Amino acid sequence: MLSFFSGRMEVGLAQFLQLAWIAGTLPIVVAFIPISKLNWFREALMGFAKRGKTMQYSSQKFTVPQRFFLHFYVVGSVWTMLLLVTTGMYAYRLVPLETESFAFSTITSYLIGSSSIRTDSTKIVHRNEVFRAVLLLLLVEVHILRRLYETIYVFNYSPLARMHIFGYLTGLFFYVAAPLSLCSNCALEVYEFTARRVAEYIVKSKSQIPVTEFESWHILNPLLKLGWQQWIGAAVFFWGWIHQQQCHAILGSLREHSKQINDYIMPHGDWFEVVSCPHYLSEIVIYTGLVIASGGTNLTIWLLLVFVVANLTFAAVETHRWYLQKFEGYPSTRFAIIPFLL
Ligand SMILES: NC(=O)c1ccc[n+]([C@@H]2O[C@H](COP(=O)([O-])OP(=O)(O)OC[C@H]3O[C@@H](n4cnc5c(N)ncnc54)[C@H](OP(=O)(O)O)[C@@H]3O)[C@@H](O)[C@H]2O)c1
Repeated sequence: MLSFFSGRMEVGLAQFLQLAWIAGTLPIVVAFIPISKLNWFREALMGFAKRGKTMQYSSQKFTVPQRFFLHFYVVGSVWTMLLLVTTGMYAYRLVPLETESFAFSTITSYLIGSSSIRTDSTKIVHRNEVFRAVLLLLLVEVHILRRLYETIYVFNYSPLARMHIFGYLTGLFFYVAAPLSLCSNCALEVYEFTARRVAEYIVKSKSQIPVTEFESWHILNPLLKLGWQQWIGAAVFFWGWIHQQQCHAILGSLREHSKQINDYIMPHGDWFEVVSCPHYLSEIVIYTGLVIASGGTNLTIWLLLVFVVANLTFAAVETHRWYLQKFEGYPSTRFAIIPFLL
């Protein structure tokens, strides 16, 4: 009965997250429709999305400093760590459900005509989903921690750079909802498992809880049981991750030799030679890696990727336009975000 409710609520959580990503994506898609009647809508949406160099210093109403990006990564890293630790512990408890015992029970169940075949296979499929969620959370935590470091030590935010309060709130929501989307298919059972463990810990004294045998390297077991698709996804993720790190280092170094912290300089190097916003392009590669690692069957994670693509493409088009206006002789071979396309 309890697992029935948990299952229903899990579906509810996934549907809520899916709706949120669709609601975030739709206005951007509408703004891309090239109809002059929609100009007012495009301008309004751009007003919410602008930040840093693309935002006029005069329009400071309802804005916060752009360096408040730091808040996203503080919230994101703490929240993702919590999800990772609890989901990891839950996955660790699922490991004994071995494939071998499944194969054995499948054969015996078949011979005796039992209906437990479906139950066992469903369990194995679900266990693999939980293991994938652990990998995805681990990857995204690595990403958010690097972004936290860069925001403090690599970027030199101009004191004049601002972002709209709407963009700020969207960012906060994003860094709560995105990690949750990566584990939405098991989040509620992980929550129930954790709540039970905490309640047990509180009710019984620590010494009364039976000491379970724990080999520290066993914590890696869930990751060792992943398939080739997960490792290809992880490779794509790190390909984008490394290029984003390089592009952020380039952006952070631009003001090193400049007299003014407010100066904007034409960037060169790495993917900047092909697009104006390679740090956005690499973010898209990172989230594509997550979709591949998820197995590609989770609608919530697909919709998260669609939102990231729409959001960053919208910002990149505006940034590209800004570069073309700001720098005479800006390389005409550079695209906004997608090489040879946009
Ligand atoms: N997943 C998502 O949906 C999502 C959404 C938004 C951002 N992000 C990620 O967050 C990261 C940062 O994004 P962002 O929009 O804050 O990037 P950004 O506006 O390009 O700014 C990054 C930093 O570089 C500086 N900068 C940018 N262009 C410069 C130039 N030409 N000359 C000198 N300094 C320059 C900025 O200075 P100022 O502050 O002074 O402008 C800021 O300190 C990106 O990797 C992006 O992919 C992800």
